[in-house]
Amino acid sequence: MSRIAYVNGRYISHLDAAVHIDDRGYQFADGVYEVIAVHNGQLVDADRHMKRLERSLRELRIDPPMGDAALVHVMQETIRRNTVRNGIVYLQITRGIAPRDHKFPKNAVPSVVVTAKRTKPMADTHIEKGVSVITIPDIRWLRRDIKSISLLPNCLGKQQAAEAGAFEAWMVDSDGYITEGTSTNAWIIDAKGVLRTRKATHVILNGITRMALVDIAASQGIPFDEKPFTIDEAKDAREAFISSTGVFVLPVTSIDKSMVGKGTPGPVAKALRQAYIAQFTPTHAV
Ligand code: PDD
Repeated sequence: MSRIAYVNGRYISHLDAAVHIDDRGYQFADGVYEVIAVHNGQLVDADRHMKRLERSLRELRIDPPMGDAALVHVMQETIRRNTVRNGIVYLQITRGIAPRDHKFPKNAVPSVVVTAKRTKPMADTHIEKGVSVITIPDIRWLRRDIKSISLLPNCLGKQQAAEAGAFEAWMVDSDGYITEGTSTNAWIIDAKGVLRTRKATHVILNGITRMALVDIAASQGIPFDEKPFTIDEAKDAREAFISSTGVFVLPVTSIDKSMVGKGTPGPVAKALRQAYIAQFTPTHAV
């Protein structure tokens, strides 16, 4: 079956899907995006994703191209037309098409692209053995809270991780504190047993998975602190893990080739992964 993409009001073959070369997304990375998990044909945490999308658009002063309900409908229709049961939806909105000029165009109409694809379940070895991360300087701009399509530093970091045989790169700010991964949030259970992740200010993306995990930690009474941590604190942590729409919760067992804890996934990361997945698959074993 051939894939279908939604582009500016039309459902068309993925092979033919295109936007104009003067689109400001192409020229300036002037746009925002969301990646939403699909489980049993349903969008996971759609409300939170829509709220974050609205905020990203507002911060960049891009007019919402349509109402929330209409956008959700387009995503559901794209899921249906691609017969995706488990996978992801990608939604991108740019400021639109206009002759290249840094200033905002006066009458541009935002471009909207939605794609949906099936994804394979995460490899068992990653879940059972954990993954490794490297650390790299965080060279991004200072509005990482906006889910902008400008992802070049993230791509460079992920490539560096891949070339080092690692799954992810954790980015480190100029004060020596980890901000987040190139496409995931970063967490530890510190030497005292406290669950820690970076506070959601302008320096990280406030992950939807991160928000759900904060709620789960509170409901399970897990000690939690939004206190930044250094590379050394992460290496000395009992456990470490990453979170995102794509990986859910994935244990990290090595940082810059240094073993975390016992070098195997820890109990808190395992429990959080289970509790997170149970929220949308109450009847499935994890
Ligand atoms: N990445 N931090 C960054 C820099 C991210 O790009 C992402 C998501 C996250 C986790 O956010 P969430 O839990 O909402 O997925 C954190 C997406 C999946 C991507 O770019 O493909």
